[in-house]
Amino acid sequence: MSIQWFPGHMNAARKKAAESMEKVDLVIEVLDARVPQASSNPMIESLRRARQRPCLKILNKSDLADPAATKEWLAHYSAQPQVSAVALSCRKPAEVAKIPQLALKIAPHRGTVLKPLRVMIMGIPNVGKSTLMNALLKKRVAKVGDEPAVTKTQQRLFLGNNIILTDTPGLMWPKIEHPTDGLMLAASHAIGVNAIIEEEVATFLADQLLQRYPQLLAVRYGMKPEGMDGVGVIEAVAAKRGYRLKGGDVDVEKAAHTLMQDYRSGALGRISLETPKSRIELLASYVVPPSLAEVQQADEEHEED
Ligand code: G4P
Repeated sequence: MSIQWFPGHMNAARKKAAESMEKVDLVIEVLDARVPQASSNPMIESLRRARQRPCLKILNKSDLADPAATKEWLAHYSAQPQVSAVALSCRKPAEVAKIPQLALKIAPHRGTVLKPLRVMIMGIPNVGKSTLMNALLKKRVAKVGDEPAVTKTQQRLFLGNNIILTDTPGLMWPKIEHPTDGLMLAASHAIGVNAIIEEEVATFLADQLLQRYPQLLAVRYGMKPEGMDGVGVIEAVAAKRGYRLKGGDVDVEKAAHTLMQDYRSGALGRISLETPKSRIELLASYVVPPSLAEVQQADEEHEED
């Protein structure tokens, strides 16, 4: 079973984002540092390139990510034309406070009273856009990400330093190009899943942890991961924690939930589920045929053009 997403209002969001793109000098794209590429929306990248807008990629939640992987991602993105990248935690105001200076450095021709720097914050749900905006504005603003673009009214927020935050376009759903992207996003809580899929997601997560961070599993749960597979890890979590169903069988659903929670909260340690290298390997291993919905959407976009 793979996780896919085909919301009908994607075209409306794309149109709105394209309009907004014309009126900004810099795009701030918020990514989840644990899964930077899986949490990016290729539409943001193509729209900004079409208008030649520079981009500051914020690898947010870096407090939860593996610092070595984050370093590789920063080098990867910084090598791209018109892209700067920074890793931080939007929950830490001192780190957020660095953003205005970085933004002004990227677009030095703006940032005066007459020509303020116009910035737009973009990203898929749950990567931390609202947290970032709240920290930048040093106050609570409404949750920005979770409503369709069409229902949003125009807003301009003044950040100081002659920087204006323009209307953030509405919902940027992840475009899940590869099944593992869906699994990585679900594991990282960027998309919700039901209980049945939760076990599949937890098994995927356990497999990733076995490959990349077996020692963290050993430390957290006191298990010996050698020779285990993903299902075995979840069963071991259930056994170690004493999770049992009424009949005495191990409660794998509860154990799956525990594993996911421990990853999401950072209790397991600082973990990244992808690196630039693993991304290249992933792309090399897949040729996913387009689904019917994707073909239809491509046709519609073609007709519009
Ligand atoms: P969004 O606007 O992009 O949809 O994201 P939002 O700011 O609502 O953030 C989603 C969740 O991520 C929030 O937690 C928020 O506190 C958390 N978050 C944002 N930035 C950081 C960060 O730098 N580090 C950490 N550790 N967490 C961060 P939540 O409401 O509790 O949701 P969840 O954690 O259960 O998903």
